[in-house]
Amino acid sequence: MVNKIETAVFPIAGLGTRFLPATKSIPKEMLIVGDTPVIEHAIKEASESGIKKMILVTSPAKASINEYFSRSVILEDILRKKKKLKELDLITRQTQLGEIIVTFQNEPKGLGHAVWCAKNLINDDAFAVILPDDIILSKTPVIRQLINLSQNNNNCTVLGVEKVNRKEVFKYGILSIEKKIGRKYFVNNIVEKPNVKNAPSNLSVVGRYLLDSKIFNFLSKMKKGAGGEIQLTDGIQYLIKHNDVMGLEFEGKRFDCGNKLGFIKANLNYGLYDSEIGKELKQYLKKI
Ligand code: G1P
Repeated sequence: MVNKIETAVFPIAGLGTRFLPATKSIPKEMLIVGDTPVIEHAIKEASESGIKKMILVTSPAKASINEYFSRSVILEDILRKKKKLKELDLITRQTQLGEIIVTFQNEPKGLGHAVWCAKNLINDDAFAVILPDDIILSKTPVIRQLINLSQNNNNCTVLGVEKVNRKEVFKYGILSIEKKIGRKYFVNNIVEKPNVKNAPSNLSVVGRYLLDSKIFNFLSKMKKGAGGEIQLTDGIQYLIKHNDVMGLEFEGKRFDCGNKLGFIKANLNYGLYDSEIGKELKQYLKKI
Protein backbone atom coordinates (compact mmCIF):
# COMPACT_ATOMS: atom_id res chain seq x y z
CA MET A 1 0.00 0.00 0.00
CA VAL A 2 1.33 3.41 -0.93
CA ASN A 3 0.45 5.61 2.06
CA LYS A 4 2.07 8.93 2.89
CA ILE A 5 5.15 9.46 0.73
CA GLU A 6 7.99 10.97 2.75
CA THR A 7 11.04 9.54 0.97
CA ALA A 8 12.45 9.88 -2.52
CA VAL A 9 15.34 7.93 -4.02
CA PHE A 10 17.59 9.52 -6.65
CA PRO A 11 19.76 6.97 -8.51
CA ILE A 12 22.77 9.03 -9.63
CA ALA A 13 25.79 6.76 -9.59
CA GLY A 14 26.17 6.67 -13.42
CA LEU A 15 29.37 7.79 -15.12
CA GLY A 16 27.77 10.27 -17.50
CA THR A 17 29.94 9.25 -20.44
CA ARG A 18 27.64 11.07 -22.92
CA PHE A 19 28.83 14.33 -21.42
CA LEU A 20 32.56 13.76 -21.58
CA PRO A 21 34.84 15.62 -21.33
CA ALA A 22 32.97 17.79 -18.75
CA THR A 23 31.99 14.74 -16.69
CA LYS A 24 35.66 13.82 -16.30
CA SER A 25 35.60 16.14 -13.29
CA ILE A 26 31.97 17.31 -12.87
CA PRO A 27 29.13 14.88 -12.09
CA LYS A 28 26.56 15.14 -14.89
CA GLU A 29 23.92 15.92 -12.24
CA MET A 30 25.83 19.14 -11.50
CA LEU A 31 25.52 20.41 -15.09
CA ILE A 32 23.24 23.41 -15.23
CA VAL A 33 19.79 23.69 -16.77
CA GLY A 34 18.59 27.30 -16.61
CA ASP A 35 20.45 28.55 -13.55
CA THR A 36 20.17 25.37 -11.52
CA PRO A 37 22.07 22.05 -11.43
CA VAL A 38 20.10 19.10 -12.81
CA ILE A 39 20.01 17.39 -9.39
CA GLU A 40 18.52 20.47 -7.72
CA HIS A 41 15.63 20.46 -10.22
CA ALA A 42 14.86 16.87 -9.18
CA ILE A 43 15.15 17.44 -5.42
CA LYS A 44 13.09 20.63 -5.67
CA GLU A 45 10.33 18.68 -7.40
CA ALA A 46 10.31 16.16 -4.53
CA SER A 47 10.38 18.89 -1.90
CA GLU A 48 7.53 20.80 -3.54
CA SER A 49 5.58 17.52 -3.60
CA GLY A 50 5.80 17.27 0.22
CA ILE A 51 8.70 14.80 0.40
CA LYS A 52 11.10 15.33 3.29
CA LYS A 53 13.82 12.68 3.00
CA MET A 54 16.02 12.61 -0.12
CA ILE A 55 18.23 9.56 -0.60
CA LEU A 56 21.00 10.04 -3.15
CA VAL A 57 22.34 6.71 -4.43
CA THR A 58 25.63 7.92 -5.78
CA SER A 59 29.30 7.09 -6.17
CA PRO A 60 32.24 8.24 -4.02
CA ALA A 61 33.58 10.14 -7.06
CA LYS A 62 30.62 12.54 -6.86
CA ALA A 63 31.37 14.19 -3.51
CA SER A 64 30.67 17.63 -4.99
CA ILE A 65 26.94 16.83 -5.03
CA ASN A 66 26.86 16.31 -1.27
CA GLU A 67 28.93 19.45 -0.83
CA TYR A 68 26.45 21.41 -2.94
CA PHE A 69 23.57 20.53 -0.59
CA SER A 70 25.58 21.40 2.53
CA ARG A 71 25.76 24.89 4.02
CA SER A 72 28.69 27.12 3.16
CA VAL A 73 28.79 29.19 6.37
CA ILE A 74 31.80 31.36 5.47
CA LEU A 75 30.33 32.36 2.10
CA GLU A 76 26.94 32.96 3.75
CA ASP A 77 28.57 35.33 6.29
CA ILE A 78 30.39 37.28 3.61
CA LEU A 79 27.24 37.70 1.51
CA ARG A 80 25.21 38.70 4.58
CA LYS A 81 27.77 41.35 5.57
CA LYS A 82 27.80 42.71 2.02
CA LYS A 83 23.97 42.69 2.03
CA LYS A 84 23.95 40.54 -1.10
CA LEU A 85 20.66 38.96 -0.13
CA LYS A 86 19.73 37.63 -3.57
CA GLU A 87 23.04 35.76 -3.79
CA LEU A 88 22.57 34.56 -0.19
CA ASP A 89 19.25 33.04 -1.19
CA LEU A 90 20.89 31.35 -4.20
CA ILE A 91 23.40 29.53 -1.99
CA THR A 92 21.03 28.59 0.85
CA ARG A 93 17.84 27.55 -0.97
CA GLN A 94 19.20 24.11 -1.88
CA THR A 95 20.15 23.39 1.75
CA GLN A 96 16.51 23.80 2.80
CA LEU A 97 14.86 21.28 0.48
CA GLY A 98 14.84 18.41 2.97
CA GLU A 99 17.12 15.94 4.67
CA ILE A 100 19.78 14.77 2.21
CA ILE A 101 21.13 11.27 2.79
CA VAL A 102 23.95 9.85 0.71
CA THR A 103 24.54 6.18 0.07
CA PHE A 104 26.72 4.46 -2.50
CA GLN A 105 26.17 2.08 -5.38
CA ASN A 106 29.63 0.65 -5.75
CA GLU A 107 29.04 -1.39 -8.89
CA PRO A 108 26.96 -0.49 -11.98
CA LYS A 109 24.49 -3.37 -11.70
CA GLY A 110 21.40 -1.61 -13.02
CA LEU A 111 18.57 0.69 -11.93
CA GLY A 112 16.87 -1.97 -9.78
CA HIS A 113 20.13 -2.52 -7.93
CA ALA A 114 20.59 1.25 -7.43
CA VAL A 115 17.14 1.50 -5.83
CA TRP A 116 17.87 -1.60 -3.72
CA CYS A 117 20.96 0.20 -2.35
CA ALA A 118 18.56 2.58 -0.53
CA LYS A 119 16.60 -0.28 1.09
CA ASN A 120 17.96 0.05 4.61
CA LEU A 121 17.28 3.79 4.64
CA ILE A 122 13.60 3.44 3.78
CA ASN A 123 11.27 2.83 6.72
CA ASP A 124 8.14 3.87 4.87
CA ASP A 125 5.58 1.64 3.18
CA ALA A 126 6.12 3.44 -0.05
CA PHE A 127 8.57 5.83 -1.63
CA ALA A 128 9.19 7.85 -4.76
CA VAL A 129 11.96 7.29 -7.30
CA ILE A 130 13.08 10.23 -9.42
CA LEU A 131 15.53 9.88 -12.30
CA PRO A 132 17.08 13.37 -12.50
CA ASP A 133 17.95 12.98 -16.20
CA ASP A 134 14.26 13.54 -16.90
CA ILE A 135 13.55 17.17 -16.09
CA ILE A 136 9.87 18.01 -16.33
CA LEU A 137 8.50 21.55 -16.59
CA SER A 138 4.99 21.51 -15.12
CA LYS A 139 2.53 23.59 -13.10
CA THR A 140 2.07 20.89 -10.45
CA PRO A 141 5.26 18.92 -9.66
CA VAL A 142 4.98 15.54 -11.38
CA ILE A 143 5.61 13.49 -8.22
CA ARG A 144 2.73 15.44 -6.59
CA GLN A 145 0.51 14.51 -9.56
CA LEU A 146 1.41 10.84 -9.01
CA ILE A 147 0.74 11.09 -5.24
CA ASN A 148 -2.66 12.68 -5.88
CA LEU A 149 -3.65 9.83 -8.21
CA SER A 150 -2.44 7.23 -5.74
CA GLN A 151 -4.40 8.79 -2.88
CA ASN A 152 -7.56 8.77 -4.96
CA ASN A 153 -7.08 5.10 -5.91
CA ASN A 154 -6.56 3.14 -2.68
CA ASN A 155 -2.92 4.21 -2.41
CA CYS A 156 -1.91 2.21 -5.48
CA THR A 157 1.55 2.20 -7.08
CA VAL A 158 1.84 4.85 -9.81
CA LEU A 159 4.25 5.23 -12.75
CA GLY A 160 4.87 8.44 -14.70
CA VAL A 161 3.95 7.83 -18.35
CA GLU A 162 4.63 9.53 -21.65
CA LYS A 163 3.53 8.42 -25.10
CA VAL A 164 6.58 8.03 -27.30
CA ASN A 165 7.11 7.52 -30.99
CA ARG A 166 6.78 3.76 -31.75
CA LYS A 167 10.35 3.78 -33.08
CA GLU A 168 11.64 4.85 -29.65
CA VAL A 169 10.08 2.13 -27.46
CA PHE A 170 13.35 0.17 -27.27
CA LYS A 171 14.76 2.89 -24.96
CA TYR A 172 12.13 2.57 -22.22
CA GLY A 173 10.08 0.44 -19.89
CA ILE A 174 6.81 -0.01 -21.83
CA LEU A 175 3.36 -0.64 -20.37
CA SER A 176 0.74 -3.15 -21.29
CA ILE A 177 -2.65 -1.91 -20.11
CA GLU A 178 -6.01 -3.38 -19.22
CA LYS A 179 -7.98 -0.17 -19.66
CA LYS A 180 -7.62 3.58 -19.62
CA ILE A 181 -9.67 6.45 -18.25
CA GLY A 182 -8.48 9.74 -19.72
CA ARG A 183 -4.80 10.02 -18.83
CA LYS A 184 -4.95 7.17 -16.28
CA TYR A 185 -3.90 3.66 -17.23
CA PHE A 186 -4.58 0.38 -15.41
CA VAL A 187 -1.37 -1.57 -15.89
CA ASN A 188 -1.25 -5.35 -16.32
CA ASN A 189 2.37 -5.72 -17.43
CA ILE A 190 5.56 -3.81 -18.09
CA VAL A 191 8.43 -4.79 -20.38
CA GLU A 192 11.94 -3.36 -20.29
CA LYS A 193 13.17 -1.98 -23.61
CA PRO A 194 11.11 -4.17 -25.97
CA ASN A 195 11.89 -4.19 -29.66
CA VAL A 196 9.54 -2.20 -31.86
CA LYS A 197 7.70 -5.30 -33.14
CA ASN A 198 6.95 -6.80 -29.70
CA ALA A 199 6.15 -3.64 -27.77
CA PRO A 200 2.72 -3.91 -26.09
CA SER A 201 2.10 -0.14 -26.55
CA ASN A 202 3.92 3.16 -26.94
CA LEU A 203 3.30 4.12 -23.29
CA SER A 204 6.75 4.62 -21.84
CA VAL A 205 7.64 4.92 -18.19
CA VAL A 206 9.75 8.02 -17.75
CA GLY A 207 11.75 8.79 -14.64
CA ARG A 208 8.97 9.10 -12.02
CA TYR A 209 7.73 6.24 -9.84
CA LEU A 210 5.75 5.77 -6.61
CA LEU A 211 6.62 2.30 -5.41
CA ASP A 212 5.50 0.00 -2.63
CA SER A 213 8.44 -1.14 -0.52
CA LYS A 214 7.33 -4.72 -1.22
CA ILE A 215 9.42 -4.26 -4.36
CA PHE A 216 12.49 -5.04 -2.21
CA ASN A 217 11.25 -8.64 -1.78
CA PHE A 218 11.99 -8.98 -5.47
CA LEU A 219 15.04 -6.71 -5.85
CA SER A 220 16.82 -8.47 -2.95
CA LYS A 221 16.94 -11.62 -5.08
CA MET A 222 19.38 -9.80 -7.39
CA LYS A 223 17.88 -11.45 -10.46
CA LYS A 224 19.41 -10.18 -13.68
CA GLY A 225 17.05 -9.03 -16.44
CA ALA A 226 17.37 -7.17 -19.74
CA GLY A 227 20.98 -6.31 -20.64
CA GLY A 228 22.25 -8.52 -17.77
CA GLU A 229 21.24 -5.80 -15.27
CA ILE A 230 19.02 -5.85 -12.20
CA GLN A 231 16.03 -4.02 -13.60
CA LEU A 232 13.56 -1.84 -11.72
CA THR A 233 11.04 -2.84 -14.39
CA ASP A 234 11.24 -6.49 -13.25
CA GLY A 235 10.56 -5.35 -9.69
CA ILE A 236 7.49 -3.49 -10.96
CA GLN A 237 6.34 -6.67 -12.73
CA TYR A 238 6.48 -8.34 -9.32
CA LEU A 239 4.40 -5.51 -7.79
CA ILE A 240 1.79 -5.86 -10.55
CA LYS A 241 1.21 -9.45 -9.35
CA HIS A 242 0.54 -8.26 -5.79
CA ASN A 243 -0.86 -4.71 -6.05
CA ASP A 244 -2.79 -2.33 -8.25
CA VAL A 245 -0.39 -0.45 -10.48
CA MET A 246 -1.49 2.59 -12.48
CA GLY A 247 0.22 4.77 -15.06
CA LEU A 248 -0.38 8.51 -15.24
CA GLU A 249 0.23 10.50 -18.38
CA PHE A 250 1.28 13.52 -16.37
CA GLU A 251 0.82 17.17 -17.26
CA GLY A 252 4.18 18.73 -18.16
CA LYS A 253 6.93 18.98 -20.72
CA ARG A 254 9.73 16.45 -20.31
CA PHE A 255 13.34 16.93 -21.36
CA ASP A 256 15.70 13.98 -21.46
CA CYS A 257 18.82 15.65 -20.11
CA GLY A 258 20.73 12.37 -20.38
CA ASN A 259 21.69 13.26 -23.96
CA LYS A 260 23.13 16.35 -25.60
CA LEU A 261 20.09 17.36 -27.67
CA GLY A 262 17.63 16.98 -24.78
CA PHE A 263 19.98 18.91 -22.53
CA ILE A 264 20.24 21.83 -24.95
CA LYS A 265 16.44 21.84 -25.53
CA ALA A 266 15.92 21.96 -21.75
CA ASN A 267 18.28 24.91 -21.44
CA LEU A 268 16.55 26.79 -24.25
CA ASN A 269 13.12 26.23 -22.69
CA TYR A 270 14.24 27.25 -19.21
CA GLY A 271 16.01 30.24 -20.73
CA LEU A 272 12.82 31.33 -22.52
CA TYR A 273 10.89 31.22 -19.21
CA ASP A 274 13.60 33.16 -17.36
CA SER A 275 12.42 36.66 -16.42
CA GLU A 276 15.95 38.05 -16.73
CA ILE A 277 17.00 36.67 -20.11
CA GLY A 278 13.83 35.20 -21.71
CA LYS A 279 12.95 38.15 -23.92
CA GLU A 280 16.43 38.64 -25.32
CA LEU A 281 16.91 34.90 -25.86
CA LYS A 282 13.66 34.78 -27.88
CA GLN A 283 14.84 37.62 -30.10
CA TYR A 284 18.21 35.97 -30.54
CA LEU A 285 16.64 32.62 -31.49
CA LYS A 286 14.45 34.34 -34.09
CA LYS A 287 17.53 35.96 -35.54
CA ILE A 288 19.48 32.74 -35.96
C1 G1P B 1 15.52 3.47 -17.24
C2 G1P B 1 14.50 2.35 -17.01
C3 G1P B 1 13.41 2.41 -18.06
C4 G1P B 1 12.77 3.77 -18.10
C5 G1P B 1 13.86 4.85 -18.34
C6 G1P B 1 13.26 6.25 -18.23
O1 G1P B 1 16.24 3.18 -18.42
O2 G1P B 1 15.17 1.12 -16.99
O3 G1P B 1 12.43 1.43 -17.78
O4 G1P B 1 11.79 3.83 -19.12
O5 G1P B 1 14.90 4.74 -17.35
O6 G1P B 1 14.20 7.24 -18.54
P1 G1P B 1 17.65 3.90 -18.76
O7 G1P B 1 17.29 5.23 -19.35
O8 G1P B 1 18.40 4.01 -17.48
O9 G1P B 1 18.32 3.00 -19.74
